[in-house]
Amino acid sequence: MPTVGTFPTSRQDIAGISIADLAAQFSTPTFVYDAAVIVERIEDLKAFDLVRYAQKACSNIAILDLARRQSVVVDAVSAGEIHRALAAGYQGGTNADGVHEIVYTADIFDADALDLVIEHDIHVNCGSPDMIDQLGARKSGAEITLRLNPGFGHGHSQKTNTGGQQSKHGIWYEQIEECKQRAAKHGITITGLHMHIGSGTDLEHLAQVCGAMEKAVREVGNTINTISAGGGLPVPYNAEQSYVNLDEYFSLWDSSRKNLESELGHPIKLEIEPGRYLAAESGNLVTEIRAVKEMGDNTFYLVDAGFNNLARPIMYGSYHPISVVTADGSDREDVDVVVGGPLCESGDIFTQEEGGFVSKRSLPQAKVGEFLVLECAGAYGSVMGSNYNSKPLAAEVMIAEGKAHLIRERQSYQDLMRGERLLD
Ligand code: LLP
Repeated sequence: MPTVGTFPTSRQDIAGISIADLAAQFSTPTFVYDAAVIVERIEDLKAFDLVRYAQKACSNIAILDLARRQSVVVDAVSAGEIHRALAAGYQGGTNADGVHEIVYTADIFDADALDLVIEHDIHVNCGSPDMIDQLGARKSGAEITLRLNPGFGHGHSQKTNTGGQQSKHGIWYEQIEECKQRAAKHGITITGLHMHIGSGTDLEHLAQVCGAMEKAVREVGNTINTISAGGGLPVPYNAEQSYVNLDEYFSLWDSSRKNLESELGHPIKLEIEPGRYLAAESGNLVTEIRAVKEMGDNTFYLVDAGFNNLARPIMYGSYHPISVVTADGSDREDVDVVVGGPLCESGDIFTQEEGGFVSKRSLPQAKVGEFLVLECAGAYGSVMGSNYNSKPLAAEVMIAEGKAHLIRERQSYQDLMRGERLLD
């Protein structure tokens, strides 16, 4: 497992394939994923009994299929994500190893999701007590997991903190008894407990989470056979950030699991539910520089991707590493630049901090027509894309074993207006 990230500001290839060739073949903007990075990150987590991919991070069915082939199971937060999991070859119910390949984790059932859960016998991780009754009314005798809010949380931004009383996520830890009664009324058994306190968590908070999990399992009792650590494993997006120590992360959870196993007298499976950790570093958003302009003291590189393609900077002030692909492969002097996109909105800037403050990045001198890569864009990149300014969603390409595969066509202009009608 690596300890820190390295972020050169100039590059020519992704996974051995020339970026200029990729751009010529697939055009820009295009997300390019390196399959080998995903496989490596999955390997890092093999100490856990089960890795359940939080597909919300990057849900292209080719990525799900890749994860499935590595024995990773999947989480779904919507009817759409259940459909994706099924399309990628995951099955409902329990498989031959007694594993729920798909788990539906949400704070509500919408009508479609509840129908699908019933139709495909999908295990549910309930994030609200009402879900127990809604499931029970359609299907008695089910097994469920409860997603608990332990009363505190942590995240890389206030918007990704999912614990504490400000959060809408999960079942408040003081409502376990009430949930047991609701479950009993429908013959439902609580077999799992899950806690995800936020995206971008750290070890200090983890010890607290593990303690809260142990307490909650004791309260539910010996029907519990699975605990889930949720997601939240961070990845470094710049040289100041580092990976979490996975051995320590695992040992904290493992010792809670062992305490519980000895108290309950039966084995307990330990799941982890990463999204970002598996997908972030595999993904690069390849763009073309379409304008280089001076505005007083600032030089702007304007590229053909905007926050319609990568929303993290405008939403959270997130920092993404950036590199320039010089056409002649030469080393160029660095200049301080602001990198922005094509949208008719002044916030369409990739180099911004939380609060919208524009910052500069030291990048090689570049010209119109050269390519610029927004890196670490595999997680919460394409999935948070939009059609704002009537921009088609970007294409997606996966590089596997030295070959580039188109895994999502660029949206067409017909796709953009699909379903829209003029008045009769
Ligand atoms: N499990 C649950 C129940 C979650 O809510 C999430 C993320 C995950 C797992 C995966 O978390 P991860 O391992 O990826 O940190 N759009 C934001 C992140 C929102 C995360 C929402 N829930 C971003 O771009 O940083």
